[in-house]
Amino acid sequence: MAWDCGWACVVALLLGAVALLRLALRWVRADGDLTLLWAEWRGRRPEKELPGKVVWVTGASSGIGEELAYQLAKIGALLALSARRQDELERVKKRCLEISSLSENDILVLRLDLTERSSHEAATKAVLQHFGRIDILVNNGGRSQRSLFVDTSVDVYNAIMELNYLGTISLTKHVLNHMIERKKGKIVTVSSVMGIMGAPLATGYCASKHALQGFFNSLRPELWEYPGIVITNICPGPVQSKIIHNVFTEELTKSLEKPGDQSHKMSTDRCVRLTLVSIVNDLKEAWISDNPYLAVCYLWQYAPTWAWWLLGRIGKKRIQNFKRGVDADASYYQKVAA
Ligand SMILES: NC(=O)c1ccc[n+]([C@@H]2O[C@H](COP(=O)([O-])OP(=O)(O)OC[C@H]3O[C@@H](n4cnc5c(N)ncnc54)[C@H](OP(=O)(O)O)[C@@H]3O)[C@@H](O)[C@H]2O)c1
Repeated sequence: MAWDCGWACVVALLLGAVALLRLALRWVRADGDLTLLWAEWRGRRPEKELPGKVVWVTGASSGIGEELAYQLAKIGALLALSARRQDELERVKKRCLEISSLSENDILVLRLDLTERSSHEAATKAVLQHFGRIDILVNNGGRSQRSLFVDTSVDVYNAIMELNYLGTISLTKHVLNHMIERKKGKIVTVSSVMGIMGAPLATGYCASKHALQGFFNSLRPELWEYPGIVITNICPGPVQSKIIHNVFTEELTKSLEKPGDQSHKMSTDRCVRLTLVSIVNDLKEAWISDNPYLAVCYLWQYAPTWAWWLLGRIGKKRIQNFKRGVDADASYYQKVAA
């Protein structure tokens, strides 16, 4: 009898160890925070919630915004697509029509420069005139940065804040007026993991995304009388897109000479899928990232002293990568020649 009990304990321990190992492996491979992955598993599905919804996407001419347009079109959402390059938006619209059952009138191409704030009211009216309502605004347009603070002109900092922060809140203000009248709507902002943590080479970009996080986390409780209006902040880690080709550098007129290979980053379609899951499940904040950035988000939130230590090590590697002319996030594990 004692012998049987002993074996039962050994088997239970082994099964427990295997379960823990599987959990650890799943955690290493996780590409979203726990609430988000739970919502993806058990929550509401974009295919059920989004057909017929009017979604206005800024920055729809490339990268994450372009992929958002394709996934939303396939699901049957009605789209307003905005960015500065009208020809690129027309290309995206054409592809949306090819891959979905939407018709010409279901997709509005609307040129918009986020930094031209005086045009935002008319743009909002144009979307309302076309569709009669805006169910979801996705504030996605923006640019990142690759330059050290000591080398960078203050004009660059001004331009980053004008685009990523002021441009976004200006458009939000006009759309929010309409949502308040209807007492419903969703305002989704593509922030970044850099809206949570710091990162060298991106001081201005981090500041603009922290500003957005602070702004929207403060706006949400101001809207307590309107429980039908939902504010969602999306925080992606590195994702494949044109972002590095379009970054701000030391001077406004200078572009990045060597963007480097981007293939090691999270796929655009996975990032967008998790973004749609976050939207339909009314998540207030979603971290969408591979490790080690996801782990740093958790540390930053729950154990900042360790996060600062880790970022010191990762940050040194980022700067070394940047100086070698490869993508700053290319690898944290390879040795760099001195
Ligand atoms: N990719 C990443 O690793 C990553 C990670 C975290 C967060 N994000 C955020 O994701 C969002 C989308 O970036 P992405 O990665 O998809 O980069 P992207 O491929 O460079 O796309 C950026 C989009 O923003 C638009 N844009 C730039 N300046 C604009 C302006 N003045 N007015 C209006 N639109 C403007 C661009 O269109 P036009 O040039 O035609 O105007 C383009 O459609 C950004 O907010 C970025 O900060 C990206």
